[in-house]
Amino acid sequence: MFYPDEIIEEVRLNSDIVDVVGRVVRLKRSGSGYKGLCPFHNEKTPSFSVVPSKQIYHCFGCGAGGDVFSFLMEYDNLTFSEAVKTLADRAGITLPEESVSEENRIRQRERDRILSVLKDAALFYYKKLRSPDGKSGMEYFAGRGLKPEIMRSFGLGYAGKHNEVCTFLKEKGYSDSEINAAGLVYADEKKGIRDRFFNRVMFPIMDAGNHVIGFGGRVMGNGEPKYLNSPETVVFDKSRNLYGLNEARKSRKGYLIACEGYMDVISLHQAGFTEAVASLGTAFTGEHAKILRRYTEDVRLTYDSDSAGVRAALRAIPILKSAGINARIIHLEPYKDPDEFIKALGRDEFQKRIDSAEQSLSFEIHVMQREHDLSDPGERTLFQQKMARRLSLVEDELERNNFTEALAAEYMMDSGMLKRAVESSRLVDLDPGEIRGSLSTGIRSERKKSSEKSGLNEAEKLLLTYISDDPDRVYPAVKPYIEADDFSEGMMRICAEELFKQIESNELKVGSIVGLFREPEEQRLAAEIFDTGLEPGLSNTEKEQALTDLIIRIKKESLKRQSFEDEDDPISRTIKEKKVLEKLTRVRISIQ
Ligand code: UTP
Ligand code: MN
Repeated sequence: MFYPDEIIEEVRLNSDIVDVVGRVVRLKRSGSGYKGLCPFHNEKTPSFSVVPSKQIYHCFGCGAGGDVFSFLMEYDNLTFSEAVKTLADRAGITLPEESVSEENRIRQRERDRILSVLKDAALFYYKKLRSPDGKSGMEYFAGRGLKPEIMRSFGLGYAGKHNEVCTFLKEKGYSDSEINAAGLVYADEKKGIRDRFFNRVMFPIMDAGNHVIGFGGRVMGNGEPKYLNSPETVVFDKSRNLYGLNEARKSRKGYLIACEGYMDVISLHQAGFTEAVASLGTAFTGEHAKILRRYTEDVRLTYDSDSAGVRAALRAIPILKSAGINARIIHLEPYKDPDEFIKALGRDEFQKRIDSAEQSLSFEIHVMQREHDLSDPGERTLFQQKMARRLSLVEDELERNNFTEALAAEYMMDSGMLKRAVESSRLVDLDPGEIRGSLSTGIRSERKKSSEKSGLNEAEKLLLTYISDDPDRVYPAVKPYIEADDFSEGMMRICAEELFKQIESNELKVGSIVGLFREPEEQRLAAEIFDTGLEPGLSNTEKEQALTDLIIRIKKESLKRQSFEDEDDPISRTIKEKKVLEKLTRVRISIQ
């Protein structure tokens, strides 16, 4: 952290979250807090909540959340220290310059220097493209149908002769090692540094805050590699960056389009589909999915229609799904990619394809079907069995039935029969002991484990919300039964520890607990932990019952963990377990 904690807390104390959020979101009073339309995703009914007593915000829809600093970081694309500075300025607090630790100061200066190298390089390439030297680059882009305006907004450029950029940057005063750290050169002991990019058209890669963090350079015409990319550097992490997100995050269409490459994104944006992003050659990662989930839960994939594109889509679907995103597939047939499609049929036709994008489940089954010749009875049976098994994994009953019926009709099967096959596949799965070696058992038990775990997490969050909502009454009531160590390891336990500590020392500031975490994902989770939707208007007795249930649930899990830990003494373990379980059944929380 950049500034010492006391300063950060002072800034926090002097910045009311309702005021800060209220400048950009219309907030309405609701109970003890405020509600409004979430500024981080598209919605019509307010699910964005601001809790003044805790100084946190949290969206029940998209999961955004955090403290007053993270709000500014997300909304205005600021770094943490920029957010602190902004709020300190508003509150009239002077930030001590010397408060920056030496190590951080060096690290920050290094980052700034690298960003500045990259910015200068991007400007150099940009101007080069528009100079007489850049003629061939210009012709290349024009040949691909790009208009000057879109070339400007994506900052496209041209890397001309070998070592031009190196020379330019050195003249600007950057050292070899800075230029190397920015990923712009190859470093050689004998020859020194040499340009990585030359005679290529250049695509600067920007982060969500519009800083240039790397480049992709394409050969004009044929040649290998087609695209040369910056290596990972301290500012460029491929698994966390999506090309085009700096623009797409503003599009607010309710969905985002994920495609494969630079040119797909640019031509989509040029055609008005500014909601398009790309993961840039690297496989789609869980990080990418989590980032997208901040903006939407509806992602339409438009990958190349060749077999590599289909494989990439099949890989991306479960990754998106586990981040809570429903994926659909935009079909481009008979064209290869969105760029070709739009050139051939235009934007209205593409919009139609977006609107009729196929649900990922039916896409998966269609891909599965291609491997089987349905005119052969054996193959047909095999396919139907696989389809039943896949359908059986759909958790939601309505969804499962709807897909079952639709697919039965499509493949001219008796829908009752397919339904029975699906249900029996489920029953078998639910009792893993009865089938051996079935493909789905693994998945099933994994899922069972993970839903148990999420149930526990839910309970832990609820309990922490209850306590932080009404610390004076709830904390003393639950304290005899539960301690921080009873919570799951990681964020949950850290939050519990900190919450209990602050209550004990009589200085509870939930915002500062959320502020302990600086990773946006962690902040979101922390805000959620302290703002889990409690049922409104519960009577005291109902609350007491809820608290009792939560404590028992959490204690039981904690006990399981502990007994697992000293497994080598089974007898004393069983006795201990029994005792605690007995005690647990007598837990009765009462709040005065
Ligand atoms: P594609 O080969 O589909 O390129 O690779 P493209 O984006 O359609 O580009 P054009 O239209 O042929 O010019 C998709 C993405 O994979 C990465 C790039 O990010 C590219 O945009 N890639 C591809 C590389 O990084 N290196 C390569 O050599 C090829
Ligand atoms: Mn392509």
